[in-house]
Amino acid sequence: MKNVNPTETQAWRALERHAKEAEGWRLKELFKADDQRFRKFSIEWEGWLVDFSKNLVTERTLGLLEELFEVCGWREAIDAQFGGELINRTEKRAVFHTALRNHWGERPSVTGGRDVRGDVRAVLEKMRSFSDKVRSDDWKGYSGKAITDVVNIGIGGSDLGPLMVTEALKAYGHPRLRFHFVSNVDGAHIWETLKKVDAETTIFIVASKTFTTQETMANAHTARRWFFDQGGKPEDVARHFMAVSTNGEKVREFGIDVENMFEFWDWVGGRFSVWSAIGLPVMIRVGYERFMEFLYGAWLVDEHLLKAPFRQNIPAMMAAIGIWYVNFLGAETEAILPYDQYLSRFPAYFQQGNMESNGKSVDRNGKLVKYKTGPIVWGEPGTNGQHAFFQILHQGTRLVPCDFLAGIKPVAPYKDHHEKLLANFFAQTEALMIGKSREEVVEELKASGASAEDIEFLAPFKVFEGNKPTTSILYPQLTPQTLGSLIAMYEHKIFLQGVVWNIYSYDQWGVELGKQLANRILPELEEGKIRLQHDGSTTGLIEFYLKAREK
Ligand code: F6P
Repeated sequence: MKNVNPTETQAWRALERHAKEAEGWRLKELFKADDQRFRKFSIEWEGWLVDFSKNLVTERTLGLLEELFEVCGWREAIDAQFGGELINRTEKRAVFHTALRNHWGERPSVTGGRDVRGDVRAVLEKMRSFSDKVRSDDWKGYSGKAITDVVNIGIGGSDLGPLMVTEALKAYGHPRLRFHFVSNVDGAHIWETLKKVDAETTIFIVASKTFTTQETMANAHTARRWFFDQGGKPEDVARHFMAVSTNGEKVREFGIDVENMFEFWDWVGGRFSVWSAIGLPVMIRVGYERFMEFLYGAWLVDEHLLKAPFRQNIPAMMAAIGIWYVNFLGAETEAILPYDQYLSRFPAYFQQGNMESNGKSVDRNGKLVKYKTGPIVWGEPGTNGQHAFFQILHQGTRLVPCDFLAGIKPVAPYKDHHEKLLANFFAQTEALMIGKSREEVVEELKASGASAEDIEFLAPFKVFEGNKPTTSILYPQLTPQTLGSLIAMYEHKIFLQGVVWNIYSYDQWGVELGKQLANRILPELEEGKIRLQHDGSTTGLIEFYLKAREK
């Protein structure tokens, strides 16, 4: 992979100059000036439409961004990733989640001199055999009853992926099985979940790449204790506890038979692991065939990434336009707004995907960067967001580029709802761009019979500046395949942005310090005595807590 400081490239400097010109752009004027703008700035792919035309970009912007991507070696980086090279250098690992979905075509999946397609296939078969048994009632609990509930215990990537996808695909799900996700170390999470399930008919999937994560281990131990309290015996654990991990030794130590372990590999990053055995709850919910469709959707995007030229390459365009906003137009955040209730956890999923990957301030040379890297990512489904935070999008003081996502066909049977939903989607992107001028507001107020005094007072509050950029992503319908594609698009966007920012997107050292300090403080809370040197505030907090809890 190239190692280029992007700010030292000519393309970057040209983009900085170009950004000055952009200050005067009005999106609606750009449309007036070019009646082909929609066609030129949107991509149709596999029945999808990705419309970038409501973004503050021109042909020149995209040309310069392409130059930037070229000089930063986006193609070489993709080849390195797909070639199984150890591109996660700080952890000396390959980044090979794409191998988990490489089941079609001729492309090999070689890393460390080994084609891992066979290993991946073997785990998929094991998942298939297990999930088929659970789905068809062949897998019985210790008292001989069929399974009714699946509890996934994991956190971060070992939670958000299966949680988001099982939720998104629930319409395709098994009619009887119920799914629960326990992540938080707050005992309320496991307690409230255990209240809902029956030990005789519940399986627990302990999902942890490392099998050392404090939250997951605490929840797994509590679940096992509860299982024994409910009448389960040690010899019954094998029927009720599964593990998904890369760490066989720790799984054995916990007391789960390796027979019940679904393996994955260190070349799968936590936040990219839903394609691996971490997706086991997904396979149990939707079945093997649909899980394969999910992988296939992602594979299609992998092929698209590898083959499509820059301007037709959806992840590359998403990445490039994102960089334009962050580094040249000053955006601090970006919003993901699915007009699809099934995608309610999609923004949270890519909050981790994006912010854990590109929330970095040191480049690949170990030097502090002097430019902005990953933005803050947030969002909620529409139309709910409209009645909550859209005010700031329309009339706030910040630039917030938004992605609007929706299925062309609904999954739910109510067509009239879908038309209302999409009317809101289109209206919002239009309103954000067009805004409402003072003249229009005055006309409206006059028509409503407002007095001249009221018009003068009210007009400024009712003006919408407009010119707010959005990207619209329309997919045929939310299915396992389209969901796989959608996730892969965002994954590759994140990767390509990291390439240009010259950072390592696949480690997450930033979460370590908090974990270390929590491990130091925990014995103090357990003992009820402060033994270590802390800062004044932390000492004060702990002291207050220790005293107050005794009252
Ligand atoms: O919080 C950091 C992190 O390592 C995430 O990247 C990961 O998804 C999560 O913790 C869970 O880790 P594990 O799967 O090892 O329990």
